[in-house]
Formats: sequence, structure tokens, C-alpha cells
Amino acid sequence: MHVETGVLEMPAYAKINITLDVLGLRSDGYHDVEMIMQSVDLHDIVRVQRRKDDAIVLHSDTPGVPLDERNLMVRAASLLRREAGGESGVDLTLGKRIPIAAGLAGGSADAAATLHLLNRLWSLEWPLSRLMDLGARLGSDVPFCLQGGTALASGRGERIEAVQSLAGLTVLLVKPPFGVSTPEIYKGFDRLENKPLRQASRRLLERQSQDGLFALFHNDLQEVTAGLYPEVGELIERIAGMGGRGVMTGSGPTVMGLFTDSAEMQRARELFARQYPETYVVRTI
Ligand code: C5P
Repeated sequence: MHVETGVLEMPAYAKINITLDVLGLRSDGYHDVEMIMQSVDLHDIVRVQRRKDDAIVLHSDTPGVPLDERNLMVRAASLLRREAGGESGVDLTLGKRIPIAAGLAGGSADAAATLHLLNRLWSLEWPLSRLMDLGARLGSDVPFCLQGGTALASGRGERIEAVQSLAGLTVLLVKPPFGVSTPEIYKGFDRLENKPLRQASRRLLERQSQDGLFALFHNDLQEVTAGLYPEVGELIERIAGMGGRGVMTGSGPTVMGLFTDSAEMQRARELFARQYPETYVVRTI
């Protein structure tokens, strides 16, 4: 974070799902999950700045980003201010780089950064655990984004436990030119006849070494999203044809390309980038 007079800013990192196991539908409409979540260096920039009045105003450099209460950053600022009993206004500025509705938790990362920054700007000094409790009220991925790194997420995704770091991996990300709705994908999962019960997260945590790590990446929602959006399945197959392994992140549609050979990854990147402008090579952090 960097301090000027009344201005703070920080990067808001995207996440990938190394695993995503859906354990079952709950009575509140959410699903119990187990996920190994991982921050990557692809990031937005979030800035907060004091205002003289009491308004909460969001500015963004990207068309298509809602600037009102639909935006999780605005909701995060309102909620924190209400819970802290404050009245100060703030300008929020978002430099958007993470693709939207992509399975990369971009909106949640922006909300998490907003909470961290306002906690400092308003000198609240709330501990991380308290910010995470508040973040869970904004969205299931916000607590992970507040903590970052490598974590096992459970419950509906809001219960976070740090696990051995998986920093330093290089991953190709290819986002097809459409977004998906997370509730739609979870509903599709409920309709699956043969639900997977793979417990990929547990198996990955029990591994003895990093060898064969890419083979343990798994996502229970992939079949649902690929069924609704064939381009996702095609991407996964094309990555396999290029020597890698394709696995979807979150509820999609972004597909991760996992390559042990970096020359093969670079070739895949060049090829996909011609067709998909939202192609990235990222590092886990
Ligand atoms: O928590 P969040 O607001 O991000 O979730 C969006 C929607 O995704 C929920 O309303 C629910 O339909 C679905 N969801 C779910 N189970 C989860 C997380 C999200 O069914 N663990």
C-alpha cells in the first residue's frame, strides 16, 4: 500500500481454483464446497481517497463495470462504514485488468482490497478475522481474497484455512468472450444425474511431493459449464492437443492451461491470444 495525503492504493489479485469439490446442496440454497484457492499475479488496482462530503463514489477506467450498488466495491464500502459507525465519504477508483464474470473472483478481489484500504484510511484497525466475517456477507469468495495466497476454502467457500503454499507455478489463462452466471452453473450441477464425489482437495493436500501436481487439478463444475457452453470443452481439448492439461477455474468460463514444458505453453499462448484477447500467463503467488 502506498500513502499520499488521504489516498491509499493496492493491487487486488485474481484467484484460480486448483480444486473445486461440490459436496452438496444446503437448505439455504448455497452449496457446501471444498476448494483449494490460489492467488495469481494478474490484478486490478484499487484506490481509495477521502471526500469532503459523505458520498461513496466509484470511478472506473473500464466501460461495462457497474458504478452503483451493484458493484461489490460500493457495497463493501457502505457495509464497512455502517458497521464501523462512520459517516465519511470516499472516492473509490478501480483500474480493471481481471476479466469480469470469468471464474477469477475479480469482483470479490476488488471488494477485499476496498475493505483493507478503508480499514486503514479510517484507522479502524480491525483484525483480518473481523474483515473476513464482514467479507463473507458480501460474497463467498471475499474472505479468501482478503487473505490471499494458498488456502483450503470450505462451507460455502467462506471458511478459510491456510495450507502449504503453491506459489511459483506458471499457468496459462484463456477466457472465452462471454461471462457465466455462478447460480446458473450451480443449478446445472444439481441436475446432474451422476454427481462426482472425487474429493480432489483432500487428495491434493495429502500428496507427498509436487510431482504430478497438475494431474490433481480438478473442478466439479467443469462438466456443467462445458455442457452449457461447448467452447469451454473445446478449449480444454485444444489445450490437451498442445501438450498441456486444461481445467476450468471457478464456475468458468476461464480455462487454465497447465504445461510442464514452457515452450509448449508459449506456443499455446501465442495461438490462443490471436483468437482470445483475454489470454494471460500468470504466476501463483
Ligand atoms: O456468495 P456469492 O454471492 O458469490 O454466490 C453467488 C451465487 O452462487 C449464490 O447465490 C448461489 O446461487 C451460488 N453459490 C452456491 N454455492 C456456493 C457459492 C455460490 O450455490 N458455495
